[in-house]
Amino acid sequence: MTDFKKIISHAKEYGFVFPSSEIYDGLSAVYDYAQNGAALKKNIRDYWWKAMVQLHSNIVGIDAAIFMHPTTWKASGHVDAFNDPLIDNKDSKKRYRADVLVEDYCAKIEVKIEKEVKKAAKRFGESFDKAQFTSTNPRVVGYQEKIDVILKRLGQSLEKEDLADVKALIEELEIACPESGSRNWTDVKQFNLMFGTKLGASAESAMDLYLRPETAQGIFVNFLNVQKTGRMKIPFGIAQTGKAFRNEIVARQFIFRMREFEQMEMQFFVPPGTQKEWYEKWKETRLKWHLSLGMGEDNYRFHDHEKLAHYADAAADIEFKFPFGFKELEGIHSRTDFDLSSHEEFSGKKLQYFDPERNENYVPYVVETSIGLDRMFLATFSWALREETLEDGSQRTVLKLPAVLAPTKVAVLPLVKKDGLPDLAHEIVNSLKWEQAVSYDEKDAVGRRYRRQDALGTPYCITVDHQSLEDKTVTLRDRDSMEQERIAIADLSAYLDAKLNVKYWLKNS
Ligand code: GAP
Repeated sequence: MTDFKKIISHAKEYGFVFPSSEIYDGLSAVYDYAQNGAALKKNIRDYWWKAMVQLHSNIVGIDAAIFMHPTTWKASGHVDAFNDPLIDNKDSKKRYRADVLVEDYCAKIEVKIEKEVKKAAKRFGESFDKAQFTSTNPRVVGYQEKIDVILKRLGQSLEKEDLADVKALIEELEIACPESGSRNWTDVKQFNLMFGTKLGASAESAMDLYLRPETAQGIFVNFLNVQKTGRMKIPFGIAQTGKAFRNEIVARQFIFRMREFEQMEMQFFVPPGTQKEWYEKWKETRLKWHLSLGMGEDNYRFHDHEKLAHYADAAADIEFKFPFGFKELEGIHSRTDFDLSSHEEFSGKKLQYFDPERNENYVPYVVETSIGLDRMFLATFSWALREETLEDGSQRTVLKLPAVLAPTKVAVLPLVKKDGLPDLAHEIVNSLKWEQAVSYDEKDAVGRRYRRQDALGTPYCITVDHQSLEDKTVTLRDRDSMEQERIAIADLSAYLDAKLNVKYWLKNS
């Protein structure tokens, strides 16, 4: 995988992601999506929406407001419990998330495991069995046990709110401040992550509001509205995508952890007692969605939570192998009836469902799937970016994005800027643009134009040459194999549809 710094600079150089308000030196952990980034982000969002809403007759989509009545956040538990445990280093005056310090420590042990695995794979060659090696090699088993013990203790201490033990763990592991190198730590304290703002014209009448820290609550408060107006029968789901805001203390790793980000969430309402089976089903369904993009089965793993959020009776992350190791990409949470019951209590309104099969009223249980769109962007972008050495020894930078997500699907390139080739190229653009995101490029030698499209992640290039004028064929170049084939202009639309239509990508998921 490409070096992380290179990923960030490529995202900027090729118009994917810019630091926010860069002319004022940017704003920490806030980013803008540029022309290609916005298109990639939209394609990921659409891919999710199609899989979740369009392909499920029992899931509908909504678009709730970012501002919500402030009592929402009291009911949801965010006012009291949406905290991060923070610790300050007295020498550098830097503030850290205590749990992240411990997790980073474990990630370093994981790197050691990976090194052992790599060495062994080299030694044993074809006959290497990774699963057997990692479960029997004493050094690897020892490392893994150490990680398990540390994370278990961290999970238990956080769950019990035993912040003194979290500090003790940091001290026992001799974790030093990455900035100052010192182990001179303050106590661990809780810090609420919600951004506050005000609604109203005068200071006296202004109402304190929060920017939503998750999109989910917009779904819960609309549960009955949607159920009634959509005549939905349980089990059913409500999905939405939208911005969420968190005052993250450890905001780093580019768009991995941002202060303003976008979520794609779905709450699935089920009868009480069936939540476990739906939780397993959604874990499996969501993993299949990820795998449908072809980014390698080995790059995903489940991580079951030791420390459960205040609303959950089970929770797991789908982790992805980012350039800095396996990290959470998506959460699947069994949220019980916590949210709806709590909104009933705080609003005084019933949020119940009459189940004709059970012949009873109940507050439904909820299984949620929640993925960060920006994080999915980073997973896709970082996986896709490669430096390749070609047969002739030259280098190329290529962004091997899953073709269905690529911002531009086809670039049409006249071989030269004369002899009527640009006219025919424009004709092709005009006929394909109804179905695909197409671009036109006539500047520079064609080889350089191919390289530029490779770096932008464009899966296909169509080159119009003099033969095209005679026999109405063009060359079609594949980004990944770099192979070119001659194809009739009349066949382009069907060819591209077969490669790029979402239905072929999603049909097995
Ligand atoms: N409604 C449940 C919920 O919000 P979460 O695990 O806090 O659960 C869900 O967040 C997903 O949102 C995460 O898996 C991650 O992909 C994304 N996410 C959370 N905080 C983020 C941040 N600060 N920046 C970018 N993405 C974030």
